[in-house]
Amino acid sequence: MNLLITGGAGFIGSNFTRYIARKHPDWKIIVLDKLNYRGRRENLLEVEGRLKFHFIHGDICIEGDVAPLLPGIDWVINFAAETFVDRSIMSANDFVRTDVLGVFTIMEAMREHSPEGRLLHLSTDEVYGEILKGKAGEDWPLAPRNPYSASKAGGEMLVSSYINTHNFAAIIARPSNNFGPHQFPENFIPLFITNALEKKPLPLYGDGRQVRDWLFVEDCCVALEMLMEKGELGEVYNIGGGEERENILVAELICQELGVDKKAIKLVKDRPGHDRRYALDSGRLASLGWAPSKPFEERLTETVRWYVENVDWWKPLKSGEYKEFYRQWYGERL
Ligand code: NAD
Ligand code: DAU
Repeated sequence: MNLLITGGAGFIGSNFTRYIARKHPDWKIIVLDKLNYRGRRENLLEVEGRLKFHFIHGDICIEGDVAPLLPGIDWVINFAAETFVDRSIMSANDFVRTDVLGVFTIMEAMREHSPEGRLLHLSTDEVYGEILKGKAGEDWPLAPRNPYSASKAGGEMLVSSYINTHNFAAIIARPSNNFGPHQFPENFIPLFITNALEKKPLPLYGDGRQVRDWLFVEDCCVALEMLMEKGELGEVYNIGGGEERENILVAELICQELGVDKKAIKLVKDRPGHDRRYALDSGRLASLGWAPSKPFEERLTETVRWYVENVDWWKPLKSGEYKEFYRQWYGERL
């Protein structure tokens, strides 16, 4: 099997690359990544020396970066995106570019240079908008409510349109909130773990009662591989951890794990357009044989331990440009 993994230096993409490289040593893997502030070459250290691994520094929005990599590729797995909701509120430019135009560029290049290739495209549960009751099935209407999720909805609607119009070979995956090793320390769980370790306040938005459906990143990787093996082309698949928790409870668990006083949790001004709850019905994926491997709390303990043991990985990421973002975004909140 020959894979092109776009965005493979980021959080889920690098976990997926390491997972596939371990499980299928004979598969050829090309990672194409622009290395934005979240894309880290060091996330791929484990696979860098491997014979059948190639890293290409490039942009999915540039046809000339994508096209030469496509001949002979069986699957393109597209993780490449701008992904952090708060930054999409500050400026949505890069989100519209990569999450919409980038998807279009990949598909056009594939139509010309790998007509036999298939695309596994990463969308998100955020495309359903907030789900106040029940669990979203794949046939629910899309109702994104922030610039990130709107861009992701635009990208995946283009994929659907190519499936319908051009008989394009693609599968769309909509995972819920991933957590685990190598997540950039601006997302909720790694931010709270690393802030707690640095004895800084933990800025909880609004009343902290928002709900996310947590999915351990390795379980997401297993699901994605299963979709390549058994998923139906042209279909959409939810990937939900089925572990709904209020943010405040997760924040308290992190404090408990690290022996930090819960007073470190500080309720701050809410994120504009903050979706109250996400929840997915993952029955379609479960019917292929997938289920999350361990309970949320066990995986959270493992994740906290990973950040405790890998200070050298995350500490530098919280300096430089990130410090400036933190000052701008949280300055008036904290
Ligand atoms: P991430 O931000 O950690 O990684 C994204 C990667 O894409 C980075 O390595 C970045 O350098 C690269 N990239 C960005 N723009 C690019 C471009 N124009 N060309 C090439 N590479 C580019 O994101 P993540 O959390 O790993 O998410 C991966 C995918 O999964 C995204 O599509 C995201 O929307 C989706 N998703 C994420 C989650 C989650 O909880 N993290 C949940 C559902 C869906
Ligand atoms: O649901 C899937 C999505 O999950 C992905 O598509 C996105 O790429 C990913 O970034 C993530 O988006 P969220 O906005 O849900 O994740 P985030 O980690 O930013 O926030 C999780 C929850 O924690 C959310 O309710 C907001 C809250 N939060 C977050 C931060 C950064 C806080 O209360 N305080 C914070 O400082």
